[in-house]
Amino acid sequence: METVVEINTIDIIYGKHARRALPLVDAGHSRDDIHARTGNLVGVANASLTLGRGEIVVLMGLSGSGKSTLLRAVNGLAPVIRGEVRVHTDKGVVNPYTANAKALRALRARSVSMVFQQFALLPWLSVAENVGLGLELSGVPRRERRERIEEQLHLVNLSDWADHPIDALSGGMQQRVGLARAFATGAPILLMDEPFSALDPLIRAHLQDELLELQQRLRKSILFVSHDLDEAIKLGNRIAIMQAGKVIQTDTPRGIVKNPANDYVADFVANTNPLTVLTAEDIMKPVASRSQLDTRIAATVKSATPAMTLIRLLSDRPGTIGVVEGGRIAGTISHREIAAGLAPRRPERPTA
Ligand SMILES: Nc1ncnc2c1ncn2[C@@H]1O[C@H](COP(=O)(O)OP(=O)(O)O)[C@@H](O)[C@H]1O
Ligand SMILES: [Mg+2]
Repeated sequence: METVVEINTIDIIYGKHARRALPLVDAGHSRDDIHARTGNLVGVANASLTLGRGEIVVLMGLSGSGKSTLLRAVNGLAPVIRGEVRVHTDKGVVNPYTANAKALRALRARSVSMVFQQFALLPWLSVAENVGLGLELSGVPRRERRERIEEQLHLVNLSDWADHPIDALSGGMQQRVGLARAFATGAPILLMDEPFSALDPLIRAHLQDELLELQQRLRKSILFVSHDLDEAIKLGNRIAIMQAGKVIQTDTPRGIVKNPANDYVADFVANTNPLTVLTAEDIMKPVASRSQLDTRIAATVKSATPAMTLIRLLSDRPGTIGVVEGGRIAGTISHREIAAGLAPRRPERPTA
């Protein structure tokens, strides 16, 4: 996959003499310790991340773990004092921390669009005006604005509402306007900082679906912040988990659920539904000698779809389920193994 954002071992430190904190960061001192000794706050330490074209990467972690700070590094809004940020644009690679003012303005107006929490719709403007707000702020001329607004409203099925005041819409529809606005700027990279966190669960789930649908059609590259692992699993192609300013694990949702890097990640995983990511293959016992089984169930298997399917094996192991893949038995699972396989996993640890 083509990379659109590269973050290479950056440190982001808030404070007057931020560089003084670096030796302590390198020596592995804690945030609190560094704050006590230097008065500086470590926002993010030694973080690396990539975002591929068309990919959704979710930054996930507890409040204060550095998600917003890392997100803002992409458009130059966080105090990065070491390391490198590279954003690939149609005008070449731009590092927001070394770019001149003009290039930085262009980056923010054309390439990277920041989506504000709860979308901040303005009640006294019409639906169309709200969608066009970001465009207006980044200086897109009136005519082009009108075209893009129409296009985006069409995408979220709100064309008929363009000239209505935003107040006339239901809460869910209003959020769709917000989403349309986010996608309307035309920037290929979107930074979304907990856009759904303040919504009630039902509307939130709808908007997540809407986002995924828009993404299917428009293929943006999205860095999305969430403190909710279920949301991260649903939306993310990959998830980067942050703890106390560090990126501690970057993996696919399935990889995170199967192999949490430490107890902090395992605690998040324990509160999610593993069925959303795990497949039968993840928990089955692979068939050692397949010939016998293959013969016995050959007839059944013939009718199985090539996709992985579960079939009940009415054999000498009642209660056992056979896992069929590509027309062949790949493994078996008993009820007990299913229960064990779905139980929260803990990272392996040396026994005391
Ligand atoms: N503008 C700022 N000035 C000083 N410290 C900040 C600022 N923004 C964030 N921080 C600190 O950086 C750390 C990470 O914050 P943040 O990135 O907002 O975390 P998150 O988004 O994961 O909740 C916190 O300790 C926070 O207090
Ligand atoms: Mg935040």
